[in-house]
Amino acid sequence: MTLDRRAFIASVGGAGAFALLGPSGKADALEVYQQQRLNEAAGTGTGRKFPTVAEIEAQIDKSPTRKGVGNLFAARTGNVARLAPMPEKPTLMDFFKLRFMATSNHVLQSANRAVKNDMSEEIVLACLLHDVVQDLIKVDHGWWGAQLFEPYVPEKTAFAIRYHQALRFYADPPNGYVYPDLYRAMFGEDYRPEPYIEATYQMVRKHKWYLEPRMVTVNDLYAFDPNTHVDLQQFTDVIGRHFKQPKEGLGFDGSPVAHMWRSLIRPDAPL
Ligand SMILES: [Fe+2]
Ligand SMILES: [Fe+2]
Repeated sequence: MTLDRRAFIASVGGAGAFALLGPSGKADALEVYQQQRLNEAAGTGTGRKFPTVAEIEAQIDKSPTRKGVGNLFAARTGNVARLAPMPEKPTLMDFFKLRFMATSNHVLQSANRAVKNDMSEEIVLACLLHDVVQDLIKVDHGWWGAQLFEPYVPEKTAFAIRYHQALRFYADPPNGYVYPDLYRAMFGEDYRPEPYIEATYQMVRKHKWYLEPRMVTVNDLYAFDPNTHVDLQQFTDVIGRHFKQPKEGLGFDGSPVAHMWRSLIRPDAPL
């Protein structure tokens, strides 16, 4: 998709408003803008608002990267940016500041909404972490994300992160979750989830912790709000109480997932 830079900047309220957005805000705005163009393109001449699965599949070999690639590993436009080095013993906060640029605005807004909706601290933490693994890899991000955080967070938080991905495909109006238009645009209006997603949903639906991942989906903001700026400092206490920061630094504690953190630290390593 070619980018009309002027139209894009106008869509976020002009150059002044655009300049105020941080890198992640700009990335989010770009994603929303492109999604809207995709919707419009799909609707042109057909009266339809959303593409079909076949139309989305037809785009696969029109892109240099696959859709499941992590944000750090592919530029949205132009070349990838040089990354700032990380401290020797990096903390979760360091990853937020130096590696989770593309996802942080979205997860901060979701966690902020969870606080406003009076969610438990386990759910607030799950909202804060639920999508950041997309900077490493997007495909099956619920499972990857839960694995990345499991050694360091409460069991309920890891459960919520793992299963929010599957629950996003299933509406639950009594609990305040409707199927998002964004998914109609991303997956196709006639999309049916994979059998493993359906089986996972059926399992989680009956689980005593069903509401943990469901509340992540309820507080998951799929619309970018350029007027809401949420500061990571707001969550210092929740992180301090529930995130077991290893003293050696994430990536160097010998845990089974240390290599995943190291891959975020040095995504430019050729091997
Ligand atoms: Fe997600
Ligand atoms: Fe999300």
